[in-house]
Amino acid sequence: MAFSPSSASSSPVRSRTRIAVVGAGPAGLMLSHLLARAGIDSVAVDVRTRHEIEHTPRAGILEQRSVDLLADSGVSDRVHRDGARHDGIVLAFGGGGHRIDFQALVGASTLLYPQTDVFADLADARERDGGDVRFGVRDVAVDELLSDTPVLRFTDADGTRHAVRADFVVGADGSRGPCRSQVPEARRTRFARAYPYAWFGILAEAPPSAPELIYSHSPRGFALISQRTDTVQRMYFQCDPAENVADWSDDRIWTELQERVGANGHRLKEGPITARSVLPFRSFVQEPMHHGRLVLAGDAAHTVPPTGAKGLNLALADARVLAEELERAVTHGSTAPLAAYSERALRRVWRAQHFSYWMTTMLHTPPDATPFDVRRQEGELAALTGSAAGSAYLAEGYTGWPRER
Ligand code: PHB
Repeated sequence: MAFSPSSASSSPVRSRTRIAVVGAGPAGLMLSHLLARAGIDSVAVDVRTRHEIEHTPRAGILEQRSVDLLADSGVSDRVHRDGARHDGIVLAFGGGGHRIDFQALVGASTLLYPQTDVFADLADARERDGGDVRFGVRDVAVDELLSDTPVLRFTDADGTRHAVRADFVVGADGSRGPCRSQVPEARRTRFARAYPYAWFGILAEAPPSAPELIYSHSPRGFALISQRTDTVQRMYFQCDPAENVADWSDDRIWTELQERVGANGHRLKEGPITARSVLPFRSFVQEPMHHGRLVLAGDAAHTVPPTGAKGLNLALADARVLAEELERAVTHGSTAPLAAYSERALRRVWRAQHFSYWMTTMLHTPPDATPFDVRRQEGELAALTGSAAGSAYLAEGYTGWPRER
């Protein structure tokens, strides 16, 4: 982008780009990477530092299509080297484990490759390619969204104020960012669902307890056993959203986890717990995903509970479709492709909303659950794992649906 000198120290540095992106997480960075490959300039800003984003533990499952996007677009070949291929998951309930064999059922796999690594690969790729990405900015605002040249304002990490004019502004600023609220109330519909539980997430220094992920239903509540490396493991257990991490010693955490998975015949390898946090969640969609020359991507437009591992995959799918439609929009100087993007993206989003809701409610025990409710869940899980059609339905959703048109 070309800078023009500012006349007074109080006026911002003015510049011009094609696409201004608010948020430099996976959705924003993937988008700016794909745009650059199509010869379209962008500027991406984030209020968080790179270090902050890279060191906040997030989920870790990539659909095959997400892996292909990262590899084929030249972001990362590390994903193939360091990612661990998973050909199935274990659903544990009613005293035992039942493997869902993705390869046998739908000929697909997932890759365990943490979101923090996806982010680092994307940030490295933007740096390598000379992309304009500013971390640690503040006072982010977007303006004049109904004009032909909307503006992104921010103060960079050095304290310099900027006003960047663009053809289009992308809100990829997550579920707490300001962009989604820039769509006037009369022009948007919000769909939301809260859940009466959260996840207590830990990182532990221990060897893997199982070769694949274990999704464990138990009358004491849900637990998920995931992995990171040969020496670091990621695990979660359902908790009250108001739970205080300070009340949970390593011993108490291990006892709780062991009881939940022990009910289904599993035993965990323990070790020092190096990170612990409570992760509240909800389901949310804002429609449409565009307004004037603003368009939303990733968590800024939709969030899902983590049970189906869909959040990151949806963000990457948004970026892929949005890059295609923004290329059309820039070429024709038209906003019509933004509506096309919104429609295409929302078809996938609502499938993922259902899948995440279904996985979540099937596996978690609500605080007011009756013995009937728990037995009914066990009945559902037995029906699912006992049926090839049911198992294939889960495998298809978990490994990802085909590309939308
Ligand atoms: C994780 O490894 O962090 C993880 C895996 C699967 C999920 C959610 C999180 O469904």
